[in-house]
Amino acid sequence: MKVLSVVGARPQFIKASPLVRAIGRGHRSILVHTGQHYDANMSDIFFEELGLPAPDVHLGIGSSSHGAQTGAMLAALEPVMIDTRPDWVVVYGDTNSTLAGALTAVKLGLRVAHVEAGLRSFNRAMPEEINRVVADHLADLLLCPSGAAIANLKAEGRVRGVHRSADTMIEALADAAARARAASAVLDRLALAERGYVLATVHRAENTDGHDRLRRIVAALGALQEPVVFPVHPRTRRALADAGCVPGPNVTLIDPVGYLDMVRLESAARLIVTDSGGVQKEAFWLGIPCVTVRDETEWTETVESGWNVLAGTDTQAIVDAVGRFRVPATRPSLYGEGRSSQAIVQLLEEMI
Ligand code: UD1
Ligand code: UDP
Repeated sequence: MKVLSVVGARPQFIKASPLVRAIGRGHRSILVHTGQHYDANMSDIFFEELGLPAPDVHLGIGSSSHGAQTGAMLAALEPVMIDTRPDWVVVYGDTNSTLAGALTAVKLGLRVAHVEAGLRSFNRAMPEEINRVVADHLADLLLCPSGAAIANLKAEGRVRGVHRSADTMIEALADAAARARAASAVLDRLALAERGYVLATVHRAENTDGHDRLRRIVAALGALQEPVVFPVHPRTRRALADAGCVPGPNVTLIDPVGYLDMVRLESAARLIVTDSGGVQKEAFWLGIPCVTVRDETEWTETVESGWNVLAGTDTQAIVDAVGRFRVPATRPSLYGEGRSSQAIVQLLEEMI
């Protein structure tokens, strides 16, 4: 079996890493990097730390508008898929690389598997929501991490090819947690004490492109009575400069960190403030309280369990959510425990 994975953005390197390894154990794995993310600390470091093989093909697309970026990916992916004729094309999550991978493949009559299928925010203003909906309606195999994801697909008439499958990010996290503790010196480097700081990440277009939301979030971080460490996504770095946003003295802005440093920072945080999908899940799995600076989340079960609070982007609402957080007594098992990638490889085998 020949399986071509399309990746391009930071969270996709993480989601793909266990599956690409599992495919490579008995089958031919072809890894295609669109180049959507390209800075060393947004791309190369993840390949090194996650033991991902170097991409077989690097398309080098880079940043541009949605149409130009997605269009360039379609044009560049097509000859690669024609040359390699994989049995499966696997796409991950909800980025423009996901959409381009799925669309190129179906136009060539290739089978598509979507990892992290069925997630919905029900907010069509989010570029990711469009990417997910389209990818889910193109895919032959829909790998859903929750019952809610399966129900979302059913409500849209998608039932065939829908399977429950543990989230591959848990597997990546389980593999990295002990390594991060042993190898990462990030706490010493930043002079942080365990449970002595809040970790923040913000990068959603809705929070960075409209400067008001970003200003309100940054004001909230500055109003917290404790140190805040904030690894800044390049989109956000530019938005902070454009908005003339200067965070309070308790907030330390740092460049994006590699996965091991990030897992260490998450594990030792007292609380996490984020608008990231992946970071909400990791906070939950690590048992770290999470305040999400969005109006909705795809990962609703984390909110229902009490481990994640949706605070929106009002400054006082964020400060209150951080101050009032009460750690629940129990934590359910969400999005599947254990190994997911081996089970996915088996499904891919069975379906051809
Ligand atoms: C993308 C995904 C988003 C995902 C995020 C993960 C889409 C529509 N969005 O958002 O779903 O949560 O990745 O991080 O696919 N930039 C750099 N260096 C890089 C990469 C980006 O400087 O290596 C800057 C560029 O100015 C670029 C901007 O970041 O214009 C945005 O990058 P882009 O890949 O378009 O979207 P993300 O915000 O990263
Ligand atoms: N991450 C990282 N370094 C950082 C910020 C995030 O390694 O500086 C990891 C994080 O642990 C998670 C993933 O990147 O595994 C989340 O990606 P991101 O927040 O960019 O995108 P999203 O999950 O929102 O699509």
